[in-house]
Amino acid sequence: MSVGNPSIDQDHKIIVKLINQLHQHVGVVEDRKALGSALNTLIDYTLYHFSREERVMKACRYPLFEDHKRRHEKLIEQVVDIARRFSEKKEDTVKDEFLDFLKNWLINHILKQDMGFSPYAENNPEVLDITESLRTDSKQLKMLGADDLIPKSVNWNDAAILVVSKSRNFRNIIACILEIADVRGIQQYSHADDAMQSLESHLPNLIVYGWKQDDQEAIPFIGKLREIKGSSFAGIPVLLISAREERGAMESGLVAGATHCIEEPIGIQTFFEAAVKAINQ
Ligand SMILES: [Fe+2]
Ligand SMILES: [Fe+2]
Repeated sequence: MSVGNPSIDQDHKIIVKLINQLHQHVGVVEDRKALGSALNTLIDYTLYHFSREERVMKACRYPLFEDHKRRHEKLIEQVVDIARRFSEKKEDTVKDEFLDFLKNWLINHILKQDMGFSPYAENNPEVLDITESLRTDSKQLKMLGADDLIPKSVNWNDAAILVVSKSRNFRNIIACILEIADVRGIQQYSHADDAMQSLESHLPNLIVYGWKQDDQEAIPFIGKLREIKGSSFAGIPVLLISAREERGAMESGLVAGATHCIEEPIGIQTFFEAAVKAINQ
């Protein structure tokens, strides 16, 4: 599945991973909010990827550039429409259409249409020049405006992030988002007790807690963390991501000692904005 450019190939791998994740979510009724997050994540990443791919196509003077760009616009229109209908809770229509659309997108777009520019991209010196600037860890990113997706104010590469949630889908989405930013130190726990125990040997820079409807452990976990005054982990920032339906859930999280709290569904941009806020507070 190579288009002759390592950055674009990497993007495609991430997109395939995000789509596979979405397949796992569809049908898991209780994880509707995580499905919303997975959908937003795919939209955010797709927009980012299309702009990168178009830059490469332009650099290698791909003759079908305009046509390809229009196809991207059409795909975005479709996925945004599906996401809108999903948020309006027309669930069943969304499920079937969504899976068909994703399958179609994968097979037709990445495997066929994107392959069209590989002869132009391969071994093209003009493309190699911009390949370096497309890497997510590149210092040139700022110049190219990719900051919109991954904020550079945090050294994500060296960050240690602990993800706690009863929902495996939620943990997978966060891991996927963190991998996009090249975070290497990701630890995941489904039980708050195990997460608490892990702190004794390993201090993270941030705890991301996915607070699901059936989870009674979040508030005691945060409370316990803050109670142990003078301990090295009392000051670890906690980003609480709430999927709770009841009113006042976010406030109770903040009262217990969460550093910052947002509601699910999240996307790549909303996640990083909130993570930076929690880390810098
Ligand atoms: Fe692509
Ligand atoms: Fe494309």
